[in-house]
Amino acid sequence: MKILNNSLITLIVIISSYASQINAQVNSDYPSMDGKTVLITGSTDGLGREVAIRLGMLGAHVLVHGRNAQRGAEVVEKINNSAGSAQFYQADFGSLNNVRELANNVKRDHQKLHILINNAGLGSGFAGGQRRVSQDGYEMVLQVNYLAHYLLTDLLLPLLKDGAPSRIINVASRAQSPVNFGDIMLENYFSGRATYHRSKLAQVMHAFHYSELLQGTQVTFNTLHPASMMDTTMVAQMPGPARTTVDEGARALMMLAVSPALVGRSGLYFVGHNEGRANDQAYDSVARAELDKIARELIKLPAREN
Ligand SMILES: NC(=O)c1ccc[n+]([C@@H]2O[C@H](COP(=O)([O-])OP(=O)(O)OC[C@H]3O[C@@H](n4cnc5c(N)ncnc54)[C@H](OP(=O)(O)O)[C@@H]3O)[C@@H](O)[C@H]2O)c1
Repeated sequence: MKILNNSLITLIVIISSYASQINAQVNSDYPSMDGKTVLITGSTDGLGREVAIRLGMLGAHVLVHGRNAQRGAEVVEKINNSAGSAQFYQADFGSLNNVRELANNVKRDHQKLHILINNAGLGSGFAGGQRRVSQDGYEMVLQVNYLAHYLLTDLLLPLLKDGAPSRIINVASRAQSPVNFGDIMLENYFSGRATYHRSKLAQVMHAFHYSELLQGTQVTFNTLHPASMMDTTMVAQMPGPARTTVDEGARALMMLAVSPALVGRSGLYFVGHNEGRANDQAYDSVARAELDKIARELIKLPAREN
């Protein structure tokens, strides 16, 4: 079985490397991103790194983000050697102060943002499936995947409005389960899968809720499941082999980021290249508003005026 798994992984890696060679061809279907500024969280590895490189190839100025400065520098160098340009921002989303600093640094360096891709994430295998608490005292996976991105998006909204037409994309997952409002921080029951699934649905609810609030601004907000079990670090921490490649997820994410077919379209959930249906809770406007209120309290943003 192990030999079979290893062969499968080798096959996936060969297909991946072939796919990288045809990136340029795939990318050439899209308009130039010259003059556009794009922030991709978690672009030091996996899906985020691949999409950062592809956007760079289209001429974008890419704000590469992650914790690992060395891998960040490698991505920046690769983009600077292509049609685009890049700079690295380091921030650990296990600290909301780090997120605030990241937003301040981006605002210091840029007046406009054209695309924000909320991609950084921890998977269900993080810390061997053990519950961890962030510097802010919140359950770690929920904070990194959802709360940190909620805060970042809110803080960068002025730049996105100045860059409009602009796009926000939450990289969620098809692995979703309803948020338990009685146990938001999973204190009563915890599993790696439970927190991952809830954080990913929370990201979908975030996108749906904001897409309504942003109507008329020319800032669109969509979300997607890129592909299942891609060959990334996150998946390597989970039991079982990878089933798809980063290329597959990157193609879907590129479509949401730059395809002219998505101009002006907002509040959508995609599974790969096709519109899909998220967990029922995402379509419950009362649940969305409740989650929004809780998130704002947790990250200390002012309550909304009704
Ligand atoms: N892989 C899949 O099959 C799959 C399926 C569905 C959805 N997704 C979603 O796709 C996104 C990318 O996943 P991936 O598989 O590409 O993951 P990955 O290869 O593990 O990369 C994760 C990225 O997130 C960053 N990151 C992790 N923890 C962070 C923290 N505390 N603060 C700041 N950055 C942090 C990492 O930065 P450093 O390395 O610099 O720390 C890295 O750049 C995630 O949102 C994931 O949920 C993935």
